[in-house]
Amino acid sequence: MQNIWIEGKKDSPVFVLLHGTGGNEQDLVPLAQKLDEDASILSFLGDVNENGMARFFKRIRPGVFDEDDVKVRALAMRERLDRLAKERNFDASDIIAIGYSNGANLLAAMLYLNEAPFKRAVLLHPMVPLSDIRPKRLNGKAVLVTAGKNDPICPVDESETLVESLKQAGAGVTLSWFREGHAIGRAEVDAVQEWTQNIKKG
Ligand code: MLT
Repeated sequence: MQNIWIEGKKDSPVFVLLHGTGGNEQDLVPLAQKLDEDASILSFLGDVNENGMARFFKRIRPGVFDEDDVKVRALAMRERLDRLAKERNFDASDIIAIGYSNGANLLAAMLYLNEAPFKRAVLLHPMVPLSDIRPKRLNGKAVLVTAGKNDPICPVDESETLVESLKQAGAGVTLSWFREGHAIGRAEVDAVQEWTQNIKKG
């Protein structure tokens, strides 16, 4: 899977970035650089091609995922992160993983499957990634979930179901609501900044 690596300063965070459907590995780089200009950045380009749009797993139609494919690709991302952490000399558990939409859904699937090496994740407009699994043993994970009250792709009750399942599994979850739809608004960027600064200190 294609990725970009931007080497940051020693002892600064490592952000791993996963874009949304139709995006690319550059999309979330400005957000990560705004969060911490000294951070290292590892950003992926999804290798599923849906009519020319890059994604991280297959779907049957909008909102309906190919869940077997989700599982295979979540595991592959775990292995990829573990390998790249060794190659790039960082600790995979120290990553702050940030995903938007389809990328957030893959990160959520990694959490559901207990295949997330990272302890901290920012899920921007995620959905419930797998219908046949309840996540377990997520103690020690800190997750920020953002959601739009008027998001046509990710309904309000789905955000709430996702957050509830992560909490029941023991994760520390912050849910931030915004008025907008599926796009990442300015207030949302501010909320991500505040959350990442607080967990860096914690
Ligand atoms: C997905 O397919 O992962 C979700 O529907 C979000 C998106 O459209 O990317």
